[in-house]
Amino acid sequence: MHNDIARVLITEQELHDRIAELGKQLAADYADKDPIFLGVLKGVVIFFADMVRATPIRSQFDFLVVSSYGSGTTSSGHVKMLKDVSCDIQGRHVVILEDILDSGITLEYVTKHLLEMQPSSLKICTLLDKPSRRKSSIIADYVGFTIENEFVVGYGLDYDERYRNLPYVGILKPEVYSK
Ligand code: PRP
Repeated sequence: MHNDIARVLITEQELHDRIAELGKQLAADYADKDPIFLGVLKGVVIFFADMVRATPIRSQFDFLVVSSYGSGTTSSGHVKMLKDVSCDIQGRHVVILEDILDSGITLEYVTKHLLEMQPSSLKICTLLDKPSRRKSSIIADYVGFTIENEFVVGYGLDYDERYRNLPYVGILKPEVYSK
């Protein structure tokens, strides 16, 4: 698995340190708000687990499952909701947690859907932001790392459902996805 990685982009230590900083920021901003941390599965699963533990305040979890990438490296542009939220978010402070904001098509769909449920506030916290690829007006409120236009895997992010369990964020060798 590690042999398919051209280069480590963000190390375990860098992830740990940045998430600690983001956690302090979220804890300060949401101290008395009892927020719902809403993870967009599956890519967020590792970041979610680390992020919520770095944010030691009264809070609630929920998840939704969407998919738009299929087995390719670019978004199909069609977002499928595979599982909706399971709690009532009306009147609540919601923080969407995502692993990566790329074209923004996924979060555009998700935020539009969630706003219909009338939360008190809705913010976005993404581990990775690739602004050069944006095809929507979505802007994240909390960003772990802004990255260049490279295809990254690991720490939850996949290529064809593989590499999610790498402990770092790495750049996949192009020959792996051009096979
Ligand atoms: C990935 C990622 C984001 C989305 C970002 O999800 O987890 O949800 O793509 O891309 P966008 O900004 O271009 O829409 P994917 O559809 O691959 O599903 P996954 O979370 O199960 O990996």
